[in-house]
Amino acid sequence: MANNTSSRVWLITGCTSGFGKLFVSAIVARGDKVIATARNISTLEEFRDIPHVRLLDIDVTATQDELNGKATETLSLFGRVDLLVNNAGYVLSGAWEELTHEQVLHQFQTNFFGQMNITRAFLPHMRSRGSGTIIFMSSIAGWLGVAAGGPYSASKFALEGAVESLQKELLPLGIQVHLAVLGQFRTNILAQDRRRVPRSDPPIDAYNTFVDILSRRQEETNGKQPGDPVLAVERILDVVRRERSMAGKEIGLRIVLGSDAQKIIRDQCLETLRDLDQFSELSQSTDFPDAGRVDAYS
Ligand SMILES: NC(=O)c1ccc[n+]([C@@H]2O[C@H](COP(=O)([O-])OP(=O)(O)OC[C@H]3O[C@@H](n4cnc5c(N)ncnc54)[C@H](OP(=O)(O)O)[C@@H]3O)[C@@H](O)[C@H]2O)c1
Repeated sequence: MANNTSSRVWLITGCTSGFGKLFVSAIVARGDKVIATARNISTLEEFRDIPHVRLLDIDVTATQDELNGKATETLSLFGRVDLLVNNAGYVLSGAWEELTHEQVLHQFQTNFFGQMNITRAFLPHMRSRGSGTIIFMSSIAGWLGVAAGGPYSASKFALEGAVESLQKELLPLGIQVHLAVLGQFRTNILAQDRRRVPRSDPPIDAYNTFVDILSRRQEETNGKQPGDPVLAVERILDVVRRERSMAGKEIGLRIVLGSDAQKIIRDQCLETLRDLDQFSELSQSTDFPDAGRVDAYS
């Protein structure tokens, strides 16, 4: 449980930029301690002399053994980790047929398996203490697939499903789990040197339109996203620490941030409900006559 009277220890992945970087300063400003991590520790120099910040190199695509070693190493820094923020990630776009298995696998190794494996490394520690909070950075891309946006969406959809299960496994153990479902926020994620939209060689002309539309859209959106990442980080801290607007309130699995995210999720839910109602007869037409003898999953 959150407790705003004692200082707690956070570990954040991907602190060189964007949300990760902002988390570090915001956490320290609220009186907590933070282990800031990045794949190359020299990129975190600006945090080196800040009291209550420790630096550690973590590449989230490392092997499970290496990540387990990192988790053990963190205990020598502040003695424990109370909150883990699975933040590291990047955007791979492109047409399904044009992308290679290796390109998509790397997207998953960072955005999905990276988060899963880091979490697995810290769970023995949190489980033995019967407390902890784990935050996963999800996206509206985990609710809506757009043409040429498959790899990033797939990684975030996968995260949404896996984390929904994880929350149910960990709640009885005293460990809180949240998915921060973010709209478009003004970080470096869409900067030209970060986003990737590979084409096949030669490109398949049939996909030019969709790939061009998405590339252009990413380029035009970069730096003009509606969401302020400083405020998103503050809201996530409010939720976890039950402070400010969230004082005395509980929130469930998802922390939806950004009016664009709210609208997309709402529209997706309404469209799903409309489809379910319209095709109700079709959906129910495949049951055995004795359906209902076992409980539905919940
Ligand atoms: N900004 C948005 O609109 C938005 C919306 C929804 C969700 N998100 C999610 O928020 C998270 C942070 O994104 P951001 O917007 O802050 O983007 P960002 O500014 O590009 O920062 C991404 C961070 O991830 C790190 N990273 C990438 N691969 C890594 C790896 N293998 N190991 C360790 N660190 C790695 C990067 O480090 P390097 O400098 O070493 O590359 C960087 O520090 C991501 O999971 C993203 O999917 C962002």
